[in-house]
Amino acid sequence: MVGTWSPRIPNSLKDVLRRAAPLRVAVNQYRAHRLAAGPKRLDACAAQFAMNLHLTGAAPLEGKVCLEIGAGWVLSHALVCHLLGAQRIIVTDLSAIAHPQTLSKALSTSSLSLVRDILAPFSDHSDLRARLEGLAAVQSWDFETLRRLGIEYQAPVDLSHGWSGPKADFIYSFSVLEHVAVDEIDALLATLGDALLPGGHMLHNVHLEDHKAIASDPLRFLQEPSASYGRALQNDRGNRVRSSQWQRRFDQLPGLSTDLFYAWQRLDKPLPSTIDPSIEHTGEDDLRTSHIGIHSVRVASDAEPTA
Ligand SMILES: C[S@@+](CC[C@H](N)C(=O)[O-])C[C@H]1O[C@@H](n2cnc3c(N)ncnc32)[C@H](O)[C@@H]1O
Repeated sequence: MVGTWSPRIPNSLKDVLRRAAPLRVAVNQYRAHRLAAGPKRLDACAAQFAMNLHLTGAAPLEGKVCLEIGAGWVLSHALVCHLLGAQRIIVTDLSAIAHPQTLSKALSTSSLSLVRDILAPFSDHSDLRARLEGLAAVQSWDFETLRRLGIEYQAPVDLSHGWSGPKADFIYSFSVLEHVAVDEIDALLATLGDALLPGGHMLHNVHLEDHKAIASDPLRFLQEPSASYGRALQNDRGNRVRSSQWQRRFDQLPGLSTDLFYAWQRLDKPLPSTIDPSIEHTGEDDLRTSHIGIHSVRVASDAEPTA
């Protein structure tokens, strides 16, 4: 049908295009601008963050050190931490893809009074108002502007190889863990567990559907043989680790107590008739779980150093 036809770029050509550096920068820039006016609007990210804090009781962030994993193209979540009074926000990513200048769009497309209303339960209202006015007054967004707000961008950095930066009171990620290659997950989580200060909270929002078929067939990728589902596909479409296995992997981290603070299921689309044997799961509910929030707390202990 002509009306529904869309051009398909062969994967081999896509790979060549991705590797072309100037083109990659341009594509990243375009994506950052689109996201800043969409899901990375400051009011949208404030709402997402507030939902996490509300369900976990992880606030307040006043005076705290925050560590973000896989921050992406638009650093709106870091601005939310700043608005909530975090003293230092270390924003990391495996690839240096952030475009700080797009934060002006994330602010200008947002309702700032809505941002204030959404975040008010988690911070002092007058301080929040003053910080928000400070952000609205910024003329030019770049990494130096962010540094003055206490936001440090570090990329590329691969935390599956360890972390030499400061420990954090609050570690968080949005739609990142599902992109990590399966054989790197435990090393990454061990680093994150070690980086969490006693009494600290760690929140991860993980999206478990096929990222290339979210609307059409989000669970069919569970049938693909592991031999043909390598690192590139794990990164692109999702690593296929199911909810029960995230819980198991987090439970192995010493000194942490972990719960899922939400778990939504995809019930309107079929499961494939066969599931690749490499995918560990506890049954249909587990396979159908499409979004989870993972919350870990490092139990404060007198035996542990506090800094
Ligand atoms: C879907 S984007 C999400 C970006 C951002 N968190 C957001 O909410 O817009 C996935 C992010 O995960 C990062 N990522 C992928 N693999 C990673 C890894 N092994 N360690 C850290 N970050 C990773 C990517 O670079 C990218 O920034």
